[in-house]
Amino acid sequence: MDMLVVRGGHPLRGTVTVGGAKNAALPIMAAALVAEGTTVLHGVPELVDVTTLSHVLRSLGASAERRADGALEIRVVDQQPCLADYELVRRMRASVCVLGPLLGRRHRACVSLPGGCNIGHRPIDLHLKGLRALGAEITIERGYVFARADRLVGADVYLGGSFGSTVTGTCNVLSAAVLAEGTTTISAAACEPEVVDLGNMLIAMGARIEGLGTPLLRIDGVEALNAVEHTVIPDRIEAATLMVAAAMTRGELTIENVRPAHLAAVTDVLRVAGTRVEFHGSTAHVRMTGAPRPVDVTALPYPGVPTDVQAQLTALLALADGISVVTDKVFPDRFMHIPELMRLGASIRREGASAIINGTPRMSGACVMASDLRASAALLLAALASDGESVIRRVYHLDRGYERLERKLNSVGADIRRVPDDPDNMPQSLQLSVDEQSVPTMDSSDTPPPPKFLRHAENKEATVRR
Ligand code: EPZ
Repeated sequence: MDMLVVRGGHPLRGTVTVGGAKNAALPIMAAALVAEGTTVLHGVPELVDVTTLSHVLRSLGASAERRADGALEIRVVDQQPCLADYELVRRMRASVCVLGPLLGRRHRACVSLPGGCNIGHRPIDLHLKGLRALGAEITIERGYVFARADRLVGADVYLGGSFGSTVTGTCNVLSAAVLAEGTTTISAAACEPEVVDLGNMLIAMGARIEGLGTPLLRIDGVEALNAVEHTVIPDRIEAATLMVAAAMTRGELTIENVRPAHLAAVTDVLRVAGTRVEFHGSTAHVRMTGAPRPVDVTALPYPGVPTDVQAQLTALLALADGISVVTDKVFPDRFMHIPELMRLGASIRREGASAIINGTPRMSGACVMASDLRASAALLLAALASDGESVIRRVYHLDRGYERLERKLNSVGADIRRVPDDPDNMPQSLQLSVDEQSVPTMDSSDTPPPPKFLRHAENKEATVRR
């Protein structure tokens, strides 16, 4: 297991390039299962999650090989296997994206229910509701979803839930509906660019889809779909993460391979916070001098501020010159990064689905623990903006969703070293000296009396003991 040793305080300056979108690549890789022939995907990032899904596809009778030019080739060689097993789905919940394509083309699927997740409760009830509407018989037994359908028939489906639309749920229903008989409408469909990217690839394969990017999709089912070459859209979450990194370190970054339209909400927050953001074609120029201004932020389904950037913006606003409120309406519990940011000196209080951030002029290095993909990115950014050295442990979370992020950041002035997670690698500056370790002794006369409520409890207990 690795950890990152970060020496903070360096403004980032230079040019970085954004990779392909993880959250587009995963459903698109799964959708290759519906096509006849070899699907060739360009711009698929080299991530742990992509590797995991490649293993899932191979277990489902498909080949998934990276070509020398970096393209990913996926070809279905055997339609028989239909089990996405617990071990693989446990490793990556997005493996559930194979459910719709398997039902669409093979009319049967057995997919492990995704396990728990550090960002909150993540059911798939809406996925199953949509697939049942298309005629699938679905049962849940022994932790698995068993789905089968003699035939899939188009239907009107409503996919809205208590927290808005569902991104992978829309992908699953879309990937099944394209091969259903007749017309399907999906209301309250997710509008995320990643869903649009999947839809565009399916259309190139021969699917008939209208309304991509809007909450109402109309799909006219077809008999078969043919494999195509497709280039995955740039990762708007990585782009946003790099924009926040420039703002937090009060640097100046040129960020290439972005889609400005996908970054409107994050750009607005950064501009309100005082960051200069300009776009020239597919390049963003981000520059920050001085402390960010406080901003109230609410994470919402697209086109709102992405929940996947909430942790990074929370880290930024920890350095604002005032009080900000960050609310996550998509994953109300997605605040595991807060206690770790506080170890770096942030002053944040949880209030339900919100974080009240009392900005501080500076943060100082500490040893912190990553808990999930975007929290690890937020901690890395905070460490870059902190005085002195920090250590971020469990960086395997980061590797799931960012392709060599520390190399990209080091190329523009960061000082990040990836080392084995070993006490010998802990920086001297983070180790307590011997005399610091000796807790100051207090003689009994100095020991304050226990607080009244404790005294009461102790007396009560003593009474009971007697
Ligand atoms: C996708 O997850 C992304 N993952 C997530 O990114 C992202 O945070 C999320 O969409 C929201 O944008 C991939 O695309 C692989 P949802 P997904 O279904 O599809 C509730 C990252 O860091 N819900 O849109 O699983 C759910 O609990 C990851 O890259 C139901 O209630 O999210 C949540 O509150 C993390 N029932 C809300 O809807 C369902 O059947 C949105 O979830 C499905 C979801």
